[in-house]
Amino acid sequence: MKSRYEAAKNVFIDSIDNDDYIELNSSISAYKQLEHSINKPLKMILLFGKPGTGKSILLNRIHNKLKHQREIHYFDTPAINEKEFFHKLFKVLTKKDLPNNTEVNFSALVDFCKNLRGKREIIILLDEAQMYGPEMMEKIRLFSDSRAVKFVVSLHKTENEDLIAKEHFQSRIWEVIELKNATKEDQTTYIHKKLLKKNLFEIANSIKDKDMKLIHAFTKGNFRECNKLLFTLFEICEYYDENEPSKINYEQIPQRIIEMAALKLGYIHV
Ligand SMILES: Nc1ncnc2c1ncn2[C@@H]1O[C@H](COP(=O)(O)OP(=O)(O)OP(=O)(O)O)[C@@H](O)[C@H]1O
Ligand SMILES: [Mg+2]
Repeated sequence: MKSRYEAAKNVFIDSIDNDDYIELNSSISAYKQLEHSINKPLKMILLFGKPGTGKSILLNRIHNKLKHQREIHYFDTPAINEKEFFHKLFKVLTKKDLPNNTEVNFSALVDFCKNLRGKREIIILLDEAQMYGPEMMEKIRLFSDSRAVKFVVSLHKTENEDLIAKEHFQSRIWEVIELKNATKEDQTTYIHKKLLKKNLFEIANSIKDKDMKLIHAFTKGNFRECNKLLFTLFEICEYYDENEPSKINYEQIPQRIIEMAALKLGYIHV
């Protein structure tokens, strides 16, 4: 028989699909901020935060919500090279495909953009923008100067490199929205809602408040780490459920199993 924990495990596979989006206090406020900024006459908006704080899923959310009313486009991973980026931009601006073997003339495209001023307002959501170099960012700025295209630049904030301190970002960005790790309350809601969405009520109830505290302490409220920990936790539960059911308590997840998962992921060491 299939273990009930298998479905629970799969709930925590990383996903930036809009259907998996969950409303949390922090995500609602970030969404509102971003929507508000998009409606201001800004050229560039910065969305930043540590890896796994929900930047990509937020961009997907806003894209999905606004795509029927506005010209809004989501650029996921950065193009491998400038040529590909300009092809993508060309398509968005002209609504036409360019044959593969042709090159976009950069200044012609900038001029084209300038002519759109006052006629169209295009929003481009640039995810993983830490991968664009200074020359690219400079070119992107020239497009935004036309005021026909507005960019939401999403950046990773890493421990060893504070990217927004970099001159090419700092001098161009007009407004900053920062995503942070979740509070214990938001993380609890996140875990419960994710399970409830898949009708896993019993499992949701088997994670008690003190377990949530432990999970928050291990993951520091980071969504990606939380996904990893819960995936591993339910993977262990699944194993016991199938092989040694005496070690499992369906009413309450044994804390020992949470610790085993944390150990496996290296949050704690023996
Ligand atoms: N509001 C939310 N609703 C549902 N899932 C979320 C939410 N916020 C974060 N997540 C989950 O957390 C994971 C990490 O979020 P996301 O990929 O958006 O982070 P990121 O900030 O873009 O990370 P990176 O900087 O590494 O690209 C997602 O795959 C998703 O499963
Ligand atoms: Mg991302």
